[in-house]
Amino acid sequence: MLYSSKSVAETNKIAADFLPKIIGSLTNDQSGVAGATVVGLFGDLGSGKTTFTQSLGKHLGIKEVMTSPTFVIEKIYLLKNHSEEFPVAFTRLIHIDAYRLEKGEELQSLGFAELLKDPKNLILIEWPERVVDILPPKMVKINFKFVSEFEREIEF
Ligand SMILES: Nc1ncnc2c1ncn2[C@@H]1O[C@H](COP(=O)(O)OP(=O)(O)OP(=O)(O)O)[C@@H](O)[C@H]1O
Ligand SMILES: [Mg+2]
Repeated sequence: MLYSSKSVAETNKIAADFLPKIIGSLTNDQSGVAGATVVGLFGDLGSGKTTFTQSLGKHLGIKEVMTSPTFVIEKIYLLKNHSEEFPVAFTRLIHIDAYRLEKGEELQSLGFAELLKDPKNLILIEWPERVVDILPPKMVKINFKFVSEFEREIEF
């Protein structure tokens, strides 16, 4: 499905549309065993990957400010009282930005393999191509494209 978003508010609506599609979808760890739901966010700098993740977080009931994990690499949010809008089975949203990494090994040292094992984890990764060597082959993919100042293409 290809969406055109002309504002952050529209991106927020597209994120709401996306959530039901991944619930109970692809859950495999590296050895093919059921595990976390992994979503790879592909697209250039400023194409809207963080904005989209922040929208998803809001829909899932995260109240705290979700800043970009570019410098800390990984942020873990607890989904305590699942949102009423999307009462899903995830208990944690893990937001990763692999931009500053060179290979998957660096993510493994942050305990990535453990995170992959838990079916209650929703893992969203910006710049997944940097760590593709350790990602499950069946992850969900979203492509972001910068069209103009306020327009983005979002495809999943
Ligand atoms: N339609 C839109 N959808 C999403 N973001 C938009 C839109 N129009 C403008 N923007 C702006 O574009 C910027 C997108 O930045 P964002 O940090 O989400 O990109 P990113 O893909 O995560 O980049 P990076 O690779 O640097 O992490 C934000 O400042 C946001 O306000
Ligand atoms: Mg980002």
